[in-house]
Amino acid sequence: MLKSVYNWIDERLDITPLWRDVADHEVPEHVNPAHHFSAFVYCFGGLTFFITVIQILSGMFLTMYYVPDILNAYKSVDFLQSKVAFGVIVRGMHHWGASLVIVMMFLHTLRVFFTGSYKAPREMNWVVGMLIFFVMLGLGFTGYLLPWDNKAYFATQVGIQIAASPPIIGEYVKTFLQGGDIVGAQTLTRFFALHVFFLPAVLLALLGGHFFMIRKQGISGPL
Ligand code: HEM
Repeated sequence: MLKSVYNWIDERLDITPLWRDVADHEVPEHVNPAHHFSAFVYCFGGLTFFITVIQILSGMFLTMYYVPDILNAYKSVDFLQSKVAFGVIVRGMHHWGASLVIVMMFLHTLRVFFTGSYKAPREMNWVVGMLIFFVMLGLGFTGYLLPWDNKAYFATQVGIQIAASPPIIGEYVKTFLQGGDIVGAQTLTRFFALHVFFLPAVLLALLGGHFFMIRKQGISGPL
């Protein structure tokens, strides 16, 4: 059944060469943990991506209950946690995944650094990786405010004060992030927009570039 649907589409759109180009690619021996155990470090990027996918999926489900305004944000999270079926699991995945994805990304960056994979011809992918790094930190920072509890509120005040400290640009960054004179209603709306629309869109574009370059250049090594 599935095969005949596939064939039906393939006859019309000739899709086989598209995925063959991506999928029909042998894994080189030096990155295969089945050959050399230490090659597991080459899995860190893929694992980072796996958690990123979990973050996107769990986040999509969270937005079905989360209400991004200062009167209802905390209550909506509380309701999700205590009343909604599997709510505590979905929120837990997003909460712990947020830390885990940063740890994995850091390990991946260390692997790339210590295998010298940032060198020519992969400099551009290192730079794209650095941009991804900052976008991921931005996702962590903006997501932290959303439950609108005391920890979120005061941590964001500290974060914004740090962002406001550089000369010249500091005040502009602060106004951009805060959306007003204090950390308040406008900040929450703004952080929500950044967290669910702007930063994920930028992240997906950057990851597209990251994977395109990996596919074009192949994996580096062996050492
Ligand atoms: C969400 C974050 C990221 C994801 C999902 C990701 C994903 C991946 C994947 C799947 C690979 C293939 C090889 C491997 O798995 O190790 C890779 C390679 C690479 N990544 Fe990342 N990456 C991320 C962040 C970064 C960061 C922060 C940097 C560095 C600043 C970086 C730099 C590179 C480079 C230079 C390569 C090519 C390595 C080689 O050819 O050996 N990536 N990335």
